[in-house]
Amino acid sequence: MFIKEINLNGFRNYNNQNISFINGINLFIGDNAQGKTNIIEAIYLSAFAKSYRTIKDLELINFDKEYTRINLEYSKKNIEKSVELFIDKLGNKLIKYDDIKINKISSIIGEIILVVFSPDDLNIVKGAPSSRRKFIDMICCQISKSYIINLQEYNKCLKIKNNLLKKNITIEDKEYIYVLNEKMSFYIEKITEFRKEILKKILYQSKNIHLSITENKEEIKFEYISEFIDLDKEKIRHILNNNINIDIYRKTSTKGLQKDDIIIYINDFEVNKFGSQGQNRTALLTLKLANFEVLKELKEETPILLLDDIMSELDNKRINFLLKYIENYQSIITTTEYGFIDNFKNIKISKILNGHLQNQ
Ligand SMILES: Nc1ncnc2c1ncn2[C@@H]1O[C@H](COP(=O)(O)OP(=O)(O)OP(=O)(O)O)[C@@H](O)[C@H]1O
Ligand SMILES: [Mg+2]
Repeated sequence: MFIKEINLNGFRNYNNQNISFINGINLFIGDNAQGKTNIIEAIYLSAFAKSYRTIKDLELINFDKEYTRINLEYSKKNIEKSVELFIDKLGNKLIKYDDIKINKISSIIGEIILVVFSPDDLNIVKGAPSSRRKFIDMICCQISKSYIINLQEYNKCLKIKNNLLKKNITIEDKEYIYVLNEKMSFYIEKITEFRKEILKKILYQSKNIHLSITENKEEIKFEYISEFIDLDKEKIRHILNNNINIDIYRKTSTKGLQKDDIIIYINDFEVNKFGSQGQNRTALLTLKLANFEVLKELKEETPILLLDDIMSELDNKRINFLLKYIENYQSIITTTEYGFIDNFKNIKISKILNGHLQNQ
């Protein structure tokens, strides 16, 4: 699939701007604070109906406007499609796919398939376990609608459970926690199974990619850490229930999906503990390309790559590896410098200056 055009109306620092894309490398060059990331954010919004930079929709509306409207046209399996997202200062939010109003956001996720890569993503390798869970969840959610629903329902239960645990528990509260545990064990079983399956596929893709980037010097491996791998609902419920008194004592849920992690190994050492900066970045590049391959295989579509300002994070060898790898797919790349663009044919270069597109 590929994006053909986007119109940004009152979005961030854009007044009313049309941007058209080629089905190849789309490079946006500009100084800091000109509006490059805003383009990536608008595409992300069209796919997920929420931003990855803020949870406050009002921040997306241009300071001088009452509303923002994003219109995106894309092509999927040779069919022309469109998305419209509207947000106003009164808090109204409307999403339309092919002019049809969408009521449930979960029903659109996975329609426009994206792989986003930004400097913050180094947290996937170096940061807290939640960053790695977010990484795997983002892939799983784009693949499976039931995964999205299971995760949403699990999180709802977890929130209720944690709110109960915060106060002094009554007998009725405890009874309710048993009911919640019953529900949560169902979701845990499904989600753990799916995370395990997708991670297996990511590992499979990662091995070869990583060997290629490192010229056969490094082998990458993952270990999925979860207490619930290969357990059925009943066993999971047992674990949760056996832990109830500890939960009450600690005033929070001490077991659950929110404890999952993925350990990344390079040549059998844990990369976040022992890896050099370069090794961490290479591991991340591998993960993102494997992410791309897994989505491509399972969705039978090529995902769109959104690469926000990552050129400053990679050395020339890795930049070239990446650009060669993605040359035949659609990517939208932002950068402040352009020393690396020499040898690519299928490329469109646009300049961004203060919320305006130059030389298009
Ligand atoms: N709601 C808004 N209304 C108007 N301008 C906004 C709004 N939100 C953000 N901006 C402006 O958008 C600009 C930032 O855009 P963006 O993050 O896309 O920059 P960038 O080109 O990616 O810069 P960098 O290279 O530093 O990452 C800033 O000038 C900021 O003040
Ligand atoms: Mg930026």
